[in-house]
Amino acid sequence: MEATIARELEARKATDFLPINGTDHIELYVGNAKQAAYFYKAAFGFHNVAYAGPETGVRDRVSYVVQQGKIRLVLTTPLNSNSLISEHIRKHGDGVKILALWVDDATKSFQETTKRGGKSYLEPKTLEDKDGKVVVSGIYTYGETVHLFVERKDYRGAFMPGFEAMSSDFQPSDTGLLYIDHCVGNVGWNRMNETVKWYEDVMGFANILSFDDKQINTEYSALMSKVMSNGNGYVKFPINEPAEGKKKSQIEEYLDFYEGEGVQHIAVATHDIIKTVRELKARGVEFLSAPPNAYYEELLSRVGKIDEDMKPLQELGILVDRDEEGYLLQIFTKPVEDRPTLFFEIIQRKGAKSFGAGNFKALFESIEREQAKRGNL
Ligand code: FE2
Repeated sequence: MEATIARELEARKATDFLPINGTDHIELYVGNAKQAAYFYKAAFGFHNVAYAGPETGVRDRVSYVVQQGKIRLVLTTPLNSNSLISEHIRKHGDGVKILALWVDDATKSFQETTKRGGKSYLEPKTLEDKDGKVVVSGIYTYGETVHLFVERKDYRGAFMPGFEAMSSDFQPSDTGLLYIDHCVGNVGWNRMNETVKWYEDVMGFANILSFDDKQINTEYSALMSKVMSNGNGYVKFPINEPAEGKKKSQIEEYLDFYEGEGVQHIAVATHDIIKTVRELKARGVEFLSAPPNAYYEELLSRVGKIDEDMKPLQELGILVDRDEEGYLLQIFTKPVEDRPTLFFEIIQRKGAKSFGAGNFKALFESIEREQAKRGNL
């Protein structure tokens, strides 16, 4: 399977009409960006990079850019009720508005995607200040979520024109988070195939892995998942759709509470998951409950030999899965806001390029325990 993926990616490189260098940033619209920035700093170990607001000439909003490794989050809050940002928060609660992609040519990215059916969010626009220029453009993807194309080869500033560099006396140490591994979107009933086709046609992505509801199910609920990857494999967007089960799918619960389609989780990579998760827990990040003891009793027979000791993995509730190329370790936080919507995944890859299909059952049973507590199962 993996050899097929490699061949497929190789073939696509030659004809890639949307070359992407990686994730540029993720922007969340939140009710109180000042407090959200504190949360991501104190709990996750991000540090301040830049700020935009009335002090920098931006009148209608405030944005904090926080970073750890290559992961850059922009936390934006509106300054009045009469704004599209306020509308977004009223409807969806705190959530991801923008998945920004780093490209060499934001104008061409816009032209190539809109001519293939992408819906315009922002026509190519050049932003300039004393540190150079950035070209941005954007199209809508699922729900009200946006892919922004960011061209920054002629820019030397902290983030973007309109922002000023920001530092702070409050600087917790980092927790070992390195880069964004993948970002998952939840789409509505019967919307999977349409969304997959959209990523293929408009973005030139390929469907590299698929799981149906026979593979991802528990006693109560089910979902379907397809992984979309760009040409060079730097950007991966798995897509989930709910499936019929005895009870309500976790994807359906998300759609109800987010009031539409949107980003379900952001997976961030670490080179030492045990150390990272210990730190995050000590700082108050809440994780889904650990799977039952049986999961760890059967673990070695399922995944074979691993470098890590079983004891800390079990103590922290870290999950392990293997594919043809190696194994991976992963764990999922509880939602990071009161609506059961966006959460984070911490992932350490040791060769494996897949997404932990062997853990889906254990993971979903854990999510269902939380769902039941909320009365939504
Ligand atoms: Fe994931």
